[in-house]
Order: sequence, then structure tokens, then C-alpha cells
Amino acid sequence: MTTNADSAPSDRVAERLQRSSAKHSYDPDVDIDWDAPLVDGAYGKPAHRCSLYGTPLWEGLSERQRAELSMQELGASTASGVWFELILMQGLTRYAYSADPTSHRAQYALTEIADECRHSTMFGKAIDKIDGIVHRPSRFGHRAGKLFGAVVGPTLLFSGAIYVEELADAMQREIMRDESLQPLGRMVSRIHVLEEARHISFAKDELERAWRSHGPLAREALRWALTGMMLVATEEFLHPKVYTSVGLDPREAKRVADSNPHWRQAKADWARKAVELFADMGIIRGPSSAVLRRAGLLDSVQRRPA
Ligand SMILES: [Fe+2]
Ligand SMILES: [Fe+2]
Repeated sequence: MTTNADSAPSDRVAERLQRSSAKHSYDPDVDIDWDAPLVDGAYGKPAHRCSLYGTPLWEGLSERQRAELSMQELGASTASGVWFELILMQGLTRYAYSADPTSHRAQYALTEIADECRHSTMFGKAIDKIDGIVHRPSRFGHRAGKLFGAVVGPTLLFSGAIYVEELADAMQREIMRDESLQPLGRMVSRIHVLEEARHISFAKDELERAWRSHGPLAREALRWALTGMMLVATEEFLHPKVYTSVGLDPREAKRVADSNPHWRQAKADWARKAVELFADMGIIRGPSSAVLRRAGLLDSVQRRPA
């Protein structure tokens, strides 16, 4: 049980975030015009951030197919957002279960759960609106997520939250600023970016506190666990079923995407903020960092000593 006395510094961050939530929150049911028609032929995300951009498979698609694929890729990332938010909500509920309900930290965790409930509903409606074909993570991701939400402590919960929230945040900032893209995707992105900034602040504060409490052995075990989580989350960010929307074989298209330097760069750019934070804190360090480097997730940060 958390006491007010030992939680005072972190409580100040949570208190500020709670006040900000009360002033600046959206209700997507009201704030998005769900009846507005989609703009015909508009891309869901910028072409150069699509997984096949620059490959012969991309060159073989018509302009209309490229736009459709970009919408389906946005839908797939949105579906993975629902998956992740449900896992996070489970972890935050467990966090609040053990916390002092009079503390701002417990109350902010509950506020964040309420935010994520609205986000996941918004994401579900958006996927439906664009006729997204992907709704579920892979079978492995589904099982791993169930376990993650049920058992992990604050270090993995909040580092995992930071990783996925920064990944989505970076992609959504690009989408909301690009006026050529589908307005629905831009509005969903804008709402999410605003509210996620608070979640990331809370998670950073909690992660710093949790990380300090571990000794060297536990830290090394957590580095490997976070590495595994980052790899699974990045893999789940784009379901290969999206390629069927434009008549491509999902296996072949995924193989092409996995070796596409443009797509590798997009993922590395979106992961950069989380990776830099983890490196600064010493969470990315040593042998596990080599695994992340091989996966391309450190491509956008300066090389640091192992
Ligand atoms: Fe969210
Ligand atoms: Fe969030």
C-alpha cells in the first residue's frame, strides 16, 4: 500500500496531470463527426511511412491501391493500439488496486484508465468507419499480452507503456500535421496525441521511481524482458493481413516490408524518443541492446558504449 508520506514527490506530478486532464480532455463520441464521409482517395498515413514504400511491390500498385493500403496500415496500427490499451488498462487497474486511493498517483491511474477506455472506443469506431480488415493481434501477441497485463510490475508496465505510447505518438504527430491525409485519421491522431502526452509524463515519473528500487540482477532481467516486449510490440504494430486489401500475398509482402530500409527507418524514428530515454536511464545497455540494434530499433539514436 502506498502512503502519502513516501509518494509525495511523485504525487505532485500526478496532481498536475490530474488537473490538466480535468481541463483538457476530449469526448470522441461528441468531438468527432462520425457521419462525415471519408475523403475519396486520401492516404491514411504519409506514403513514405507505408511499409512497402520504395519497393518493387509498391511500384506495382496503382495510386488507388497505395491509398487503400495506407488506410489499412493505419487501421492495423489502430487495432494494435486497442490491444495495447487493454493490456495497459489491466496493468493500471492492478496498480490502483495496491495504491492508496486518496493519493493523486492512484487517482491519476484511474483517470488514465478512463482516457484509454475512450481511446479504445474511438479506435474501434475509426477502424469500423474505414472498413479496416484487421481487428486482432497475432495468436502469440494475444497470449503474451494477456500474461503481460496480468503479471508484470511497475517497471515493465510503465516502460512498456512508454515504448508503445511513444511509437504511436510519433506516428500520429506526423499524421495530424499532414493536411493531405484522411481528416478522420488526423482528428483521431490529434485527440490521442494530446491525452497521451500526460500518460507518457506519468509513466516516466513512475518508471524512474520503480527502476531505482532494483538491484543489478533484477535490472538485467528487466532489460531482457523489456527487449522481448519491444520486439513483440513492434511486430504487432502492423498485421500482415493488411496486404490482402490490395491483392498481395501477406507472407511475401511481409518479407519485403521486413527488409525495406524505408520501413525500418520509420519504425526506428518512431521508437527514438523511448529508446533515448531508456538508454539515458541505463535500461537499454549491455547484451540485450545488441538484440535491439539487430532489429533496427536503435537506428535513429547515437551509438552508445555497451
Ligand atoms: Fe490511448
Ligand atoms: Fe495512453
